[in-house]
Amino acid sequence: MGRRMLAAGVVAAALAMAACGGGESGEPPSAGEGYRVGLLLPESKTTRYDTFDRPYIEARLGEVCADCEVLYRNADSDAAQQATQAAELLDQDIRVLILDAVDAAAAAAVVTDAEARGVPVVAYDRLAKGPVDFYVSFDNEKVGQVQAQSLLTALGGERTRPIVMINGAPADPNAAGFKKGAHSVLDGEVTIGREFDAADWSAEAARTGMAAAITALGAEKIAGVYAANDGTAGGAIEALKAAGVTELPPVTGQDAEIAAIQRILAGEQYATIYKAIKPQATVAADMAVAAATGTAYTGHVTSFTDNGTAKVTSVLLPPVAVTRANVKDTVVADGFYTAPQLCTGSYAAACHEAGIS
Ligand code: GAL
Repeated sequence: MGRRMLAAGVVAAALAMAACGGGESGEPPSAGEGYRVGLLLPESKTTRYDTFDRPYIEARLGEVCADCEVLYRNADSDAAQQATQAAELLDQDIRVLILDAVDAAAAAAVVTDAEARGVPVVAYDRLAKGPVDFYVSFDNEKVGQVQAQSLLTALGGERTRPIVMINGAPADPNAAGFKKGAHSVLDGEVTIGREFDAADWSAEAARTGMAAAITALGAEKIAGVYAANDGTAGGAIEALKAAGVTELPPVTGQDAEIAAIQRILAGEQYATIYKAIKPQATVAADMAVAAATGTAYTGHVTSFTDNGTAKVTSVLLPPVAVTRANVKDTVVADGFYTAPQLCTGSYAAACHEAGIS
Protein backbone atom coordinates (compact mmCIF):
# COMPACT_ATOMS: atom_id res chain seq x y z
CA MET A 1 0.00 0.00 0.00
CA GLY A 2 2.77 2.40 0.95
CA ARG A 3 4.66 1.45 -2.20
CA ARG A 4 1.60 1.92 -4.31
CA MET A 5 1.09 5.39 -2.93
CA LEU A 6 4.68 6.27 -3.69
CA ALA A 7 4.40 4.96 -7.23
CA ALA A 8 1.12 6.57 -8.15
CA GLY A 9 1.14 9.63 -5.99
CA VAL A 10 3.25 12.11 -7.93
CA VAL A 11 0.50 14.09 -9.64
CA ALA A 12 -1.95 13.67 -6.80
CA ALA A 13 0.62 14.71 -4.26
CA ALA A 14 1.51 17.87 -6.13
CA LEU A 15 -2.16 18.84 -6.25
CA ALA A 16 -2.67 17.84 -2.64
CA MET A 17 0.22 19.95 -1.48
CA ALA A 18 -1.39 22.93 -3.14
CA ALA A 19 -4.74 22.11 -1.59
CA CYS A 20 -4.07 21.22 2.01
CA GLY A 21 -0.52 20.34 2.78
CA GLY A 22 0.33 16.66 2.66
CA GLY A 23 3.42 14.76 1.70
CA GLU A 24 6.08 16.01 -0.62
CA SER A 25 7.14 14.23 -3.80
CA GLY A 26 4.51 11.53 -3.33
CA GLU A 27 5.43 10.84 0.27
CA PRO A 28 2.49 10.05 2.49
CA PRO A 29 1.60 12.81 4.94
CA SER A 30 3.55 12.59 8.16
CA ALA A 31 2.05 12.24 11.62
CA GLY A 32 0.14 15.32 12.71
CA GLU A 33 -0.19 16.64 9.19
CA GLY A 34 -3.69 17.36 7.88
CA TYR A 35 -5.13 15.97 4.65
CA ARG A 36 -8.46 15.29 3.06
CA VAL A 37 -10.43 12.13 3.69
CA GLY A 38 -13.23 11.18 1.27
CA LEU A 39 -16.35 9.60 2.76
CA LEU A 40 -18.95 8.09 0.46
CA LEU A 41 -22.08 6.61 2.03
CA PRO A 42 -24.70 4.76 0.01
CA GLU A 43 -28.20 5.84 0.88
CA SER A 44 -30.57 7.85 3.03
CA LYS A 45 -33.50 5.43 3.19
CA THR A 46 -31.84 3.85 6.20
CA THR A 47 -31.37 6.31 9.03
CA ARG A 48 -28.05 4.93 10.27
CA TYR A 49 -25.85 6.62 7.70
CA ASP A 50 -26.54 10.28 8.39
CA THR A 51 -27.52 9.80 12.03
CA PHE A 52 -24.63 7.63 13.18
CA ASP A 53 -22.05 6.55 10.61
CA ARG A 54 -21.08 9.95 9.31
CA PRO A 55 -20.90 11.78 12.66
CA TYR A 56 -19.01 8.92 14.36
CA ILE A 57 -16.48 8.68 11.54
CA GLU A 58 -15.97 12.44 11.54
CA ALA A 59 -15.61 12.49 15.32
CA ARG A 60 -12.99 9.75 15.34
CA LEU A 61 -11.05 11.39 12.52
CA GLY A 62 -11.13 14.59 14.53
CA GLU A 63 -9.47 12.71 17.38
CA VAL A 64 -6.78 10.91 15.41
CA CYS A 65 -6.13 13.52 12.74
CA ALA A 66 -7.23 16.88 14.09
CA ASP A 67 -6.18 18.75 10.94
CA CYS A 68 -7.84 16.34 8.54
CA GLU A 69 -10.85 17.48 6.57
CA VAL A 70 -13.65 15.09 5.65
CA LEU A 71 -15.31 15.50 2.26
CA TYR A 72 -18.67 13.72 2.43
CA ARG A 73 -21.26 12.64 -0.14
CA ASN A 74 -24.32 10.38 0.06
CA ALA A 75 -25.29 8.59 -3.16
CA ASP A 76 -29.02 8.13 -2.43
CA SER A 77 -28.91 4.52 -3.65
CA ASP A 78 -27.59 5.54 -7.08
CA ALA A 79 -24.40 3.74 -8.12
CA ALA A 80 -23.78 6.09 -11.06
CA GLN A 81 -24.09 9.07 -8.75
CA GLN A 82 -21.65 7.45 -6.36
CA ALA A 83 -19.12 7.07 -9.18
CA THR A 84 -19.51 10.78 -9.98
CA GLN A 85 -19.09 11.68 -6.32
CA ALA A 86 -15.96 9.55 -6.08
CA ALA A 87 -14.46 11.31 -9.10
CA GLU A 88 -15.28 14.68 -7.53
CA LEU A 89 -13.57 13.77 -4.29
CA LEU A 90 -10.56 12.27 -6.02
CA ASP A 91 -10.25 15.52 -7.99
CA GLN A 92 -10.14 17.34 -4.65
CA ASP A 93 -7.03 15.46 -3.62
CA ILE A 94 -8.32 13.20 -0.94
CA ARG A 95 -5.57 11.01 0.50
CA VAL A 96 -7.84 8.10 1.37
CA LEU A 97 -11.38 7.08 0.49
CA ILE A 98 -13.83 5.48 2.91
CA LEU A 99 -16.33 3.85 0.58
CA ASP A 100 -19.68 2.28 1.43
CA ALA A 101 -20.65 1.04 -2.01
CA VAL A 102 -24.17 1.29 -3.39
CA ASP A 103 -23.30 -1.53 -5.77
CA ALA A 104 -20.27 -3.63 -4.89
CA ALA A 105 -19.54 -4.70 -8.46
CA ALA A 106 -20.01 -1.24 -9.99
CA ALA A 107 -17.77 0.21 -7.29
CA ALA A 108 -14.80 -1.75 -8.67
CA ALA A 109 -14.30 1.08 -11.16
CA VAL A 110 -14.18 3.62 -8.33
CA VAL A 111 -11.68 1.53 -6.38
CA THR A 112 -9.51 1.02 -9.45
CA ASP A 113 -9.57 4.75 -10.23
CA ALA A 114 -8.59 5.59 -6.65
CA GLU A 115 -5.80 3.04 -6.76
CA ALA A 116 -4.50 4.50 -10.02
CA ARG A 117 -4.32 7.90 -8.32
CA GLY A 118 -2.52 6.49 -5.30
CA VAL A 119 -5.52 6.83 -3.02
CA PRO A 120 -6.13 3.81 -0.79
CA VAL A 121 -9.68 2.62 -0.16
CA VAL A 122 -11.30 1.49 3.07
CA ALA A 123 -14.43 -0.52 2.28
CA TYR A 124 -16.95 0.55 4.86
CA ASP A 125 -19.73 -1.85 5.81
CA ARG A 126 -20.12 -3.21 2.26
CA LEU A 127 -17.16 -4.86 0.59
CA ALA A 128 -16.60 -3.27 -2.81
CA LYS A 129 -14.91 -5.25 -5.56
CA GLY A 130 -11.46 -4.22 -6.72
CA PRO A 131 -8.14 -3.57 -5.00
CA VAL A 132 -9.55 -2.51 -1.64
CA ASP A 133 -7.02 -1.94 1.19
CA PHE A 134 -9.14 -2.45 4.30
CA TYR A 135 -12.65 -3.60 5.19
CA VAL A 136 -14.70 -3.04 8.32
CA SER A 137 -18.18 -4.43 8.75
CA PHE A 138 -20.28 -6.83 10.71
CA ASP A 139 -20.32 -10.52 10.00
CA ASN A 140 -23.14 -10.41 7.47
CA GLU A 141 -23.95 -14.11 7.34
CA LYS A 142 -24.04 -14.08 11.10
CA VAL A 143 -26.53 -11.18 10.94
CA GLY A 144 -28.81 -13.35 8.76
CA GLN A 145 -28.42 -16.31 11.09
CA VAL A 146 -29.21 -14.27 14.17
CA GLN A 147 -32.26 -12.73 12.49
CA ALA A 148 -33.54 -16.15 11.43
CA GLN A 149 -32.84 -17.68 14.80
CA SER A 150 -34.81 -14.97 16.54
CA LEU A 151 -37.71 -15.62 14.17
CA LEU A 152 -37.64 -19.36 14.95
CA THR A 153 -37.57 -18.54 18.66
CA ALA A 154 -40.62 -16.34 18.22
CA LEU A 155 -42.42 -19.01 16.20
CA GLY A 156 -41.88 -21.57 18.94
CA GLY A 157 -43.49 -24.83 17.88
CA GLU A 158 -45.30 -23.22 14.93
CA ARG A 159 -44.03 -25.04 11.87
CA THR A 160 -47.07 -25.47 9.64
CA ARG A 161 -48.08 -21.99 8.47
CA PRO A 162 -45.66 -20.32 6.04
CA ILE A 163 -43.40 -17.36 6.60
CA VAL A 164 -42.62 -14.53 4.19
CA MET A 165 -39.01 -13.63 3.48
CA ILE A 166 -38.11 -10.08 2.47
CA ASN A 167 -34.48 -9.65 1.49
CA GLY A 168 -32.50 -6.48 0.91
CA ALA A 169 -31.14 -4.61 -2.10
CA PRO A 170 -29.69 -7.08 -4.61
CA ALA A 171 -26.75 -4.79 -5.45
CA ASP A 172 -25.71 -4.63 -1.79
CA PRO A 173 -23.31 -7.51 -1.12
CA ASN A 174 -24.38 -7.54 2.52
CA ALA A 175 -27.92 -8.38 1.46
CA ALA A 176 -26.63 -11.59 -0.10
CA GLY A 177 -24.83 -12.40 3.16
CA PHE A 178 -27.94 -11.77 5.25
CA LYS A 179 -30.01 -13.93 2.88
CA LYS A 180 -27.51 -16.76 2.89
CA GLY A 181 -27.19 -16.75 6.66
CA ALA A 182 -30.97 -16.64 7.12
CA HIS A 183 -31.57 -19.51 4.70
CA SER A 184 -28.97 -21.61 6.47
CA VAL A 185 -31.14 -21.43 9.59
CA LEU A 186 -34.67 -21.38 8.12
CA ASP A 187 -34.45 -23.94 5.34
CA GLY A 188 -35.92 -27.25 6.43
CA GLU A 189 -37.36 -25.65 9.57
CA VAL A 190 -40.19 -23.58 8.14
CA THR A 191 -42.04 -23.22 4.86
CA ILE A 192 -41.10 -20.06 3.03
CA GLY A 193 -44.40 -19.18 1.38
CA ARG A 194 -43.09 -16.14 -0.47
CA GLU A 195 -39.67 -14.58 -0.84
CA PHE A 196 -38.62 -11.39 -2.61
CA ASP A 197 -35.91 -8.73 -2.67
CA ALA A 198 -36.68 -5.10 -1.76
CA ALA A 199 -34.80 -3.01 -4.32
CA ASP A 200 -32.77 -0.20 -2.70
CA TRP A 201 -33.91 -1.43 0.71
CA SER A 202 -37.19 0.32 -0.06
CA ALA A 203 -39.89 0.12 2.62
CA GLU A 204 -42.43 0.78 -0.12
CA ALA A 205 -41.21 -2.22 -2.12
CA ALA A 206 -41.54 -4.29 1.06
CA ARG A 207 -45.05 -3.01 1.62
CA THR A 208 -46.28 -3.80 -1.89
CA GLY A 209 -44.50 -7.17 -1.97
CA MET A 210 -45.98 -8.05 1.41
CA ALA A 211 -49.45 -7.01 0.23
CA ALA A 212 -49.06 -9.42 -2.71
CA ALA A 213 -47.89 -12.18 -0.35
CA ILE A 214 -50.94 -11.59 1.85
CA THR A 215 -53.21 -11.89 -1.19
CA ALA A 216 -51.50 -15.13 -2.22
CA LEU A 217 -51.19 -16.79 1.18
CA GLY A 218 -54.02 -15.26 3.22
CA ALA A 219 -53.52 -12.62 5.90
CA GLU A 220 -54.11 -14.90 8.88
CA LYS A 221 -52.07 -17.74 7.42
CA ILE A 222 -48.72 -15.98 7.69
CA ALA A 223 -46.82 -17.22 10.73
CA GLY A 224 -43.98 -14.70 10.60
CA VAL A 225 -41.95 -12.37 8.45
CA TYR A 226 -38.21 -12.41 7.95
CA ALA A 227 -37.50 -8.79 6.99
CA ALA A 228 -33.83 -8.05 6.36
CA ASN A 229 -33.88 -4.57 7.86
CA ASP A 230 -36.05 -2.22 9.84
CA GLY A 231 -37.25 -0.21 6.85
CA THR A 232 -38.59 -3.33 5.15
CA ALA A 233 -40.00 -4.56 8.47
CA GLY A 234 -41.94 -1.30 8.72
CA GLY A 235 -43.30 -1.79 5.19
CA ALA A 236 -44.36 -5.37 5.97
CA ILE A 237 -46.10 -4.31 9.18
CA GLU A 238 -48.00 -1.58 7.33
CA ALA A 239 -49.21 -4.13 4.78
CA LEU A 240 -50.32 -6.53 7.53
CA LYS A 241 -52.22 -3.76 9.30
CA ALA A 242 -53.78 -2.60 6.04
CA ALA A 243 -55.02 -6.18 5.53
CA GLY A 244 -56.75 -6.00 8.90
CA VAL A 245 -54.33 -8.19 10.86
CA THR A 246 -54.60 -7.19 14.50
CA GLU A 247 -52.46 -9.91 16.09
CA LEU A 248 -49.27 -9.18 14.19
CA PRO A 249 -47.01 -12.16 13.53
CA PRO A 250 -43.33 -11.89 14.54
CA VAL A 251 -41.36 -9.66 12.18
CA THR A 252 -37.57 -9.34 12.22
CA GLY A 253 -35.43 -6.37 11.18
CA GLN A 254 -31.97 -4.85 11.32
CA ASP A 255 -30.24 -1.59 12.26
CA ALA A 256 -32.00 -0.81 15.52
CA GLU A 257 -33.64 2.21 13.94
CA ILE A 258 -35.52 4.30 16.46
CA ALA A 259 -38.89 3.59 14.81
CA ALA A 260 -38.15 -0.14 15.00
CA ILE A 261 -37.13 -0.03 18.65
CA GLN A 262 -40.38 1.79 19.37
CA ARG A 263 -42.33 -0.85 17.42
CA ILE A 264 -40.53 -3.54 19.41
CA LEU A 265 -41.42 -1.85 22.68
CA ALA A 266 -45.03 -1.54 21.51
CA GLY A 267 -45.14 -5.22 20.46
CA GLU A 268 -45.49 -4.59 16.72
CA GLN A 269 -42.06 -5.83 15.63
CA TYR A 270 -40.43 -8.81 17.24
CA ALA A 271 -36.71 -8.19 16.80
CA THR A 272 -34.02 -6.10 15.19
CA ILE A 273 -30.26 -6.38 14.93
CA TYR A 274 -28.17 -3.86 16.78
CA LYS A 275 -24.94 -3.03 15.04
CA ALA A 276 -22.77 -0.93 17.30
CA ILE A 277 -21.85 1.68 14.72
CA LYS A 278 -19.47 3.64 16.91
CA PRO A 279 -16.84 0.87 17.03
CA GLN A 280 -17.30 0.29 13.32
CA ALA A 281 -16.81 3.98 12.55
CA THR A 282 -13.83 4.14 14.88
CA VAL A 283 -12.13 1.24 13.14
CA ALA A 284 -12.85 2.80 9.74
CA ALA A 285 -11.28 6.11 10.74
CA ASP A 286 -8.23 4.35 12.18
CA MET A 287 -7.83 2.24 9.05
CA ALA A 288 -8.17 5.37 6.91
CA VAL A 289 -5.41 7.14 8.82
CA ALA A 290 -3.14 4.09 8.59
CA ALA A 291 -3.79 3.79 4.86
CA ALA A 292 -3.33 7.50 4.17
CA THR A 293 -0.10 7.76 6.10
CA GLY A 294 1.28 4.40 4.99
CA THR A 295 1.57 3.22 8.58
CA ALA A 296 0.46 -0.13 10.00
CA TYR A 297 -3.09 -0.57 11.22
CA THR A 298 -2.60 -1.57 14.84
CA GLY A 299 -6.15 -2.60 15.74
CA HIS A 300 -7.27 -6.20 16.09
CA VAL A 301 -7.74 -7.75 12.64
CA THR A 302 -10.39 -10.48 12.65
CA SER A 303 -9.97 -11.89 9.15
CA PHE A 304 -8.86 -11.50 5.56
CA THR A 305 -11.88 -11.35 3.29
CA ASP A 306 -11.56 -12.42 -0.31
CA ASN A 307 -13.37 -9.94 -2.56
CA GLY A 308 -12.25 -11.61 -5.76
CA THR A 309 -9.27 -9.27 -6.17
CA ALA A 310 -7.50 -9.43 -2.84
CA LYS A 311 -7.68 -10.95 0.59
CA VAL A 312 -8.64 -7.74 2.32
CA THR A 313 -7.49 -7.03 5.87
CA SER A 314 -10.77 -7.01 7.75
CA VAL A 315 -12.39 -6.23 11.03
CA LEU A 316 -15.78 -7.97 11.30
CA LEU A 317 -17.80 -7.05 14.34
CA PRO A 318 -20.48 -9.21 15.98
CA PRO A 319 -24.19 -8.33 15.57
CA VAL A 320 -26.54 -8.38 18.56
CA ALA A 321 -30.21 -9.45 18.46
CA VAL A 322 -32.59 -7.06 20.18
CA THR A 323 -36.08 -7.93 21.37
CA ARG A 324 -38.25 -6.22 23.94
CA ALA A 325 -36.43 -8.22 26.63
CA ASN A 326 -33.06 -6.55 26.04
CA VAL A 327 -33.74 -3.08 24.58
CA LYS A 328 -32.69 -1.66 27.91
CA ASP A 329 -29.47 -3.66 28.16
CA THR A 330 -28.38 -3.03 24.57
CA VAL A 331 -29.27 0.17 22.75
CA VAL A 332 -30.15 2.10 25.89
CA ALA A 333 -27.20 0.87 27.99
CA ASP A 334 -24.89 1.68 25.09
CA GLY A 335 -26.22 5.22 24.77
CA PHE A 336 -27.34 4.52 21.18
CA TYR A 337 -30.69 5.98 22.26
CA THR A 338 -31.67 7.72 25.45
CA ALA A 339 -34.87 6.95 27.29
CA PRO A 340 -36.38 10.37 26.42
CA GLN A 341 -35.70 9.71 22.72
CA LEU A 342 -37.48 6.36 22.82
CA CYS A 343 -40.22 6.97 25.33
CA THR A 344 -42.14 9.69 23.55
CA GLY A 345 -45.96 9.94 23.61
CA SER A 346 -47.67 6.59 23.34
CA TYR A 347 -44.40 4.70 23.89
CA ALA A 348 -44.05 5.91 27.48
CA ALA A 349 -46.09 3.03 28.91
CA ALA A 350 -44.23 0.39 26.89
CA CYS A 351 -40.94 1.91 28.01
CA HIS A 352 -42.05 1.72 31.59
CA GLU A 353 -42.95 -1.97 31.18
CA ALA A 354 -39.53 -2.64 29.66
CA GLY A 355 -37.86 -0.96 32.62
CA ILE A 356 -36.65 2.01 30.57
CA SER A 357 -36.89 5.38 32.25
C1 GAL B 1 -26.54 -2.81 4.65
C2 GAL B 1 -26.06 -2.53 5.98
C3 GAL B 1 -27.18 -2.63 6.89
C4 GAL B 1 -28.31 -1.79 6.45
C5 GAL B 1 -28.67 -2.04 5.08
C6 GAL B 1 -29.82 -1.13 4.76
O1 GAL B 1 -25.51 -2.73 3.78
O2 GAL B 1 -25.09 -3.45 6.37
O3 GAL B 1 -26.80 -2.26 8.14
O4 GAL B 1 -27.99 -0.45 6.60
O5 GAL B 1 -27.54 -1.88 4.31
O6 GAL B 1 -30.66 -1.15 5.77
